[in-house]
Amino acid sequence: MSKNIELRLENIYTGYDKADVLSDVSITVEPGKVTCILGSNGSGKSTLIRSILSLTPPRAGKVWFGDRDITGLPTHLVNRAGIACIPEGRKVFPKMTVEENLHVGAYQERSAAVIRKRLQEVYEIFPRLQERTDQLGGTMSGGEQAMLSIGRGLMAAPELLLIDEPSLGLSPLFVKETFNVIQRINEMGVTVLLVEQNVHQTLAVAHYGYVLMQGRVVAQAPTEELRNNAEVQQAYFG
Ligand SMILES: Nc1ncnc2c1ncn2[C@@H]1O[C@H](COP(=O)(O)OP(=O)(O)OP(=O)(O)O)[C@@H](O)[C@H]1O
Ligand SMILES: [Mg+2]
Repeated sequence: MSKNIELRLENIYTGYDKADVLSDVSITVEPGKVTCILGSNGSGKSTLIRSILSLTPPRAGKVWFGDRDITGLPTHLVNRAGIACIPEGRKVFPKMTVEENLHVGAYQERSAAVIRKRLQEVYEIFPRLQERTDQLGGTMSGGEQAMLSIGRGLMAAPELLLIDEPSLGLSPLFVKETFNVIQRINEMGVTVLLVEQNVHQTLAVAHYGYVLMQGRVVAQAPTEELRNNAEVQQAYFG
């Protein structure tokens, strides 16, 4: 599946009004790997994802996807380049069925046969969704909605999947399942950029990590090193 495309943010500055929320952020997401962004509430994690997708285009700096400059590219074209997102809060369409929600994820794909094949792949990963194809998204449990939002992301058959706090609000069992699924997706060849607050489990699945504090990268290292890092300790344990 993977065409080995690297995502690179170079000296990114992004903000909503006057003040910058991200300052001079540079990160590399290595193809085939899980890269994580750790940071406490308000540190700019979601803004970083919004910068990649041009939902909030950077004020300065560059976003590269392979040798292609995708800085400020309209979101649907970022999607078409092979980048899909599982947004914070999941954003399942409540009035649409499970299967309709999944179809939305494949909105760039025209071939009905390809979409059917992807649906089958998603149902293999999440048998629970297959049991509930006609249930309305809004009536699914929190954990099921988490699975649905991941499934919807996979329906794009992305090169790179951006995942914003998938474990938020889930019980320990579902948290574990979510991280297992992320690992499995990665083993299928999808590159993952994972934003999380669940430090221990994130460091267990990710290969490389960055720590954001007040919109700046204060630490970066292979995850085994990050576990003992002082900034990580400070960011999460005060
Ligand atoms: N639409 C917006 N308009 C103005 N300010 C915003 C907007 N979105 C986010 N911010 C501000 O940008 C800063 C970073 O927010 P962001 O959502 O990126 O943080 P986060 O690390 O994802 O936090 P959390 O862990 O709570 O999701 C915060 O101070 C926030 O108030
Ligand atoms: Mg966030």
